Formats: sequence, structure tokens, C-alpha cells
Amino acid sequence: MKGRLVYRKTLLNDSIRHSSTLTVCAECLVKSYLPAYFPSRRRVFSTGRERWSTWGAAVAAVQNTISEVLPNRQAPGNVTIDPLRIVGKELKFLNKNIRQLLGSGHPILDTVAKYYTQSEGKHVRPLLVLLMSRAIATAPKRARRDNLIPDPHTIDTPMSPPKVLYDTNPDQPGDTPLTSPSHEIDYAFPDDGSILPSQRRLAEITELIHTASLLHDDVIDHSTIRRSEPSANILFGNKMAVLAGDFLLGRASVALARLRDPEVTELLATVIANLIEGEFMQLKNTALDEKEPRWSEENVSYYLQKTYLKSASLISKSCRAAALLAHSAPEIVDAAYAYGRNLGLAFQLVDDMLDYTSSGSELGKPAGADLELGLATAPLLFAWKERPELGRLIGRKFIEQGDIEKVLYPKRTS
Ligand code: FPP
Ligand code: MG
Repeated sequence: MKGRLVYRKTLLNDSIRHSSTLTVCAECLVKSYLPAYFPSRRRVFSTGRERWSTWGAAVAAVQNTISEVLPNRQAPGNVTIDPLRIVGKELKFLNKNIRQLLGSGHPILDTVAKYYTQSEGKHVRPLLVLLMSRAIATAPKRARRDNLIPDPHTIDTPMSPPKVLYDTNPDQPGDTPLTSPSHEIDYAFPDDGSILPSQRRLAEITELIHTASLLHDDVIDHSTIRRSEPSANILFGNKMAVLAGDFLLGRASVALARLRDPEVTELLATVIANLIEGEFMQLKNTALDEKEPRWSEENVSYYLQKTYLKSASLISKSCRAAALLAHSAPEIVDAAYAYGRNLGLAFQLVDDMLDYTSSGSELGKPAGADLELGLATAPLLFAWKERPELGRLIGRKFIEQGDIEKVLYPKRTS
């Protein structure tokens, strides 16, 4: 517990420099800038468990990129901005609100569904939604194309009659809703007037979708540890972990419907489909399934497309949804999307690199997991371009004795 508190505190102390709009090419980021941050296993956040943070590494890399590319365009007076302090009040209640959205009359389902909310995750996705909401609060507004004027305060009001919604729940007779009604959701902190309740709920929905995907991902990857604790599949078994993930998606869908914004619903429902498409692209990469695949640019394009679907889609589309909920002008909506897209790609590229450069105790999950799963991510794809002989190992998914060592320590094993 102490380690977790230290972790949050150090996160709060981290800072990001303001920059003007900048699009960072994902490949350039990997090739030119990120390696400079990791020659000596530079620690980004110091935590009780000496754990690395993908988020911190992504922020640091973007800061470096900005100062390299735009040396004269830093914020005046070198002002640093603390992203966590800006939305600290909202983040404080995030976990509690998510747990209320996940309440179930079935005690075991209740426990499994809430399991990953017990450990303090980084909450990167909700953080970004909240920061985006703050950033665009005073930006130009324009009437929506669909003339939609949803009430941002009806996020807990059901649309169907309670008798229909809660009909078959055995533990909750009568009209008692399964989830807590709106007045129990804790939004008791003073409202600063800029982040709408609907945007806060959107932040919670993004975390629910992300957590659902982790529950499923840990089953697919045969994971044993997440956030330094046993993963849900290990503790409760595959069946319950998968069902709990489905339950999270169900509750996220109800919350999404209650935003009463069809365009936002369309975006977030697409994210769910994208996550599964990305996971499929990763599981079945037919080009790399050949016996001895050859390097081509298409492998990198495939990897980036997969990365968009698996990681950047949720971040980009939820940033866009935050702008839609604020009735932002179309150029703001598009900029929010582009920002989320680039950051999401950078985030996953860093995550894939940490799999090579960090230890398990630093990550809070086993390092080298991608190679163990037979996956060729960005670091290996770029190495393969220079060392064609790696194709054979990629084709056989590193299953032969010593394959993983050959990738990790080529000089020692050649
Ligand atoms: C973590 O990847 C996993 C994801 C980013 C998404 C996984 C998506 C699915 C399993 C599809 C199902 C989706 C839903 C919404 C139910 P990783 O294995 O690279 O990261 P890790 O090291 O944290 O496990
Ligand atoms: Mg995984």
C-alpha cells in the first residue's frame, strides 16, 4: 500500500511542458528520440518498487522531442505544467465512481469485476480525457451537426422503466436499481465549472473499457501478474475473468447510453471493436507466420495499424468524444482526435520498448513477455531491417532453445 501511495505522489510531481500543436511521426520517435532516454535504464518515476512507467517515459520522450524539434518554442519562462494537479480533484473520485458503476448483486461477480480497481493503475486514459476536457473548456464552440443538446447532468438517469431494467435481478427485488442511483455517485467536490459531469463519466467509461480489455488480455496472454499482484485469471480462473470483462463492457455500455449522445456512443462502441481487431491482428499476423519472412516496410505499417487499433483507438476516440461533449468547434474535435492518436501510438511504442529494456520488478509484470508470446514489436522490427537473419527466429516465434537470447544479446550469442 505504501508503495502505491509513493507511486501516486511521484506521479503528481511529474510535469509536462506546454507545447504548440505538434505531430510526431511514430517511427521517428522510436528511431531518433526514444533510445536517448534509455541507454542507462533511466528511471522515469521513482516508486517504492522501482517500477517504470510507460506514461512517464512517453511524457519524457515527447518533452525531449519537442525541445529537439522546436528549441525556441517552449512555453514562455520555461513554465512547467503538472497534468495530475490540474485534474487531481476529478481523479481522486475516479476509482470510487467506477466501483459504484460495477456493483453487482452476485457477490463473486462483484469481487472479480472490481478486482483490478483495487490496485492503483496509472489511469492514463481517464487522465487524458479529463485533461482534454480542461484544455478545450474555453475553446470555441459550435452547434453540433446533429443539433444535439444533451443535458450533461442526466448521466445517471435511466431511460427505460425500472421494472424493465431491473426485472430479472434475483437479489434486487422491486424497483431497486442494480447500480447506485445518481445521488450516491460521489461528485461532492467543488465543481470548478470547466469539466462537465458527462466528461467525467466518459473518463470512467474509458477506464472500464480498458480494464475489460486487460481482463481478457491476461487470459489470452496467460499472464500471471498485473500491477505486481496475481492477475485475475490466476486468482479466479479464465472463465470468471472473461465473464467479468464482459460485465465491465456491459456496465460501460449502460453508462455510455446514458450520456445520450449517439455520436459519442458510436465512437466508443467502435473502440471496443477496434480493440478486438487489434488483438486479432496481433494473434494472426499472416505475413510473419511464414517460415522465413523477409523484412519489408509493410511489416512496420501492419505493426502501426495494429498498435492504433489496440492502443491508440481508445485514447484518440475518447479525446474526440470529450470535445464532442463540450460542443467544441469541428477543428477542435479533429485536433483532440489527432492528439490522442499520436500520444496513443507513442505510448504503446514506449510500452513495447520497456518490454526489452526493463526488468520485471521495474514493470510490475514480467519483462520480455512479448518475445515469450512470439510477438515481434517495434524494437525487433527495426533490428530485423539491419539483421535479415532475425527473420527465421520471427517466423518460428522464438520457440527454439536460445532464440530469445539471440534476439536480446546478439553479440554474446553470435
Ligand atoms: C494489453 O496489451 C492489451 C490491450 C491494449 C488490449 C487487448 C484487447 C483485447 C484482449 C480484446 C478484447 C477487448 C475488450 C474490450 C474486451 P499487452 O499484452 O501488450 O500489454 P500488457 O503487457 O499490459 O498485458
Ligand atoms: Mg498482455
